[in-house]
Amino acid sequence: MFEQLQPIKADAILSLSVEYRADNNPNKIDLGVGVYKTETGETPVLAAVKQAEAFLLQNQPSKTYLAPTGNVGFNQSMLELVFGKDHVVMTNKRARAVQAPGGTGALSLASRLIARCNSNANVWVSNPTWANHIPLIQGAGLTIKEYTYYDTAAKSIDFDGMMDDLRGGLVAGDVVLVHGCCHNPCGADLSLEQWKQLTDLLNEKGVTPFVDLAYQGFGSGLEQDVAGLRYMAANVKEMLVAASCSKNFGLYRERVGATMVVSETEQAASNAVDNLGVVARAIWSMPPDHGAAVVETILASEELTNVWHGELIEMCDRINGLRSLVANSLKEAGVAQSFDFMNNENGMFSFLGITPEQVAQLKTDFSIYMVSSSRINVAGLNANNLPYFADAMKKVVG
Ligand code: LMR
Repeated sequence: MFEQLQPIKADAILSLSVEYRADNNPNKIDLGVGVYKTETGETPVLAAVKQAEAFLLQNQPSKTYLAPTGNVGFNQSMLELVFGKDHVVMTNKRARAVQAPGGTGALSLASRLIARCNSNANVWVSNPTWANHIPLIQGAGLTIKEYTYYDTAAKSIDFDGMMDDLRGGLVAGDVVLVHGCCHNPCGADLSLEQWKQLTDLLNEKGVTPFVDLAYQGFGSGLEQDVAGLRYMAANVKEMLVAASCSKNFGLYRERVGATMVVSETEQAASNAVDNLGVVARAIWSMPPDHGAAVVETILASEELTNVWHGELIEMCDRINGLRSLVANSLKEAGVAQSFDFMNNENGMFSFLGITPEQVAQLKTDFSIYMVSSSRINVAGLNANNLPYFADAMKKVVG
């Protein structure tokens, strides 16, 4: 049986970490996989997480099974974090959540729910999008279509191109995947006005929005980052959200996320949750508990929530501060092209806009690792390695 299998090309993002770890160059820089790093290059466990874990160690009464839909308290806290307690979809009970193993699990679960509702639905993804969106949506048996999103020459969103593609191509029953904030890979986000225009178009076309929310709190703040999502939720009949706690709680390997459904009625929301439970039961039976219990513990405690907010603001501020620092360092190193566009972007990622050959040379000659599209994880830079990075860029890019 197995002799029929073909070798698989290494994952374009995750393989960079393996290569980086094997590199002996003391000056090596990892700008690959999207994990937050401190000024000293570490990805520590957050203090709020440590305190919640200590609490759980003392107080968790049992490790017996929960349910395919996960931890009820976690699901409710996540709904409140994403939509806000007083949002109309919360007060009229049209929003429900199901715990999932990470953002990827949440996206997969949502995709499988879409397939249960309409196996002919096209799922429209931005060009570019997170590479893993494609296999996980196709894995649910759905068809991918792309809409224009990023103008590589202008280094900003091509909103007219996006709207033209969607206006011309959407069919009632389709689904449009939108990055909630901190677009991965380009960092360029829709403005609130653009969210409004998009909402109108999706309503006009009878199309369901599906928001991937992997970076809430990493752009401009917990509330600001979901302003577009909340506007949309208040103005559509139905919506899907895949939320991740990997980055904002630093719980990467614990696999914590939630699939959220906004339905037209409370009953439809309840049916959607039951269906998600059935789908989850057939794949992982129930999601891993520990990370979700940590998030639930943090969000249930005002004290721990304050600790977490402080840590999240620190991470967000460091990334935003780095953006102008990187652009200025490249200017000072004499790199010909301007990187000021990085100041207009959000979250961990940015496209440098250099060629795959230049990306490869940065790796071979300088041990600087980034995705071949030239996406960098800005958080991988710091005061210590920035001069080396800027010098290498000058030598390779000119
Ligand atoms: C990334 O885009 O680097 C992260 O979301 C990690 C991943 O799983 O690809």
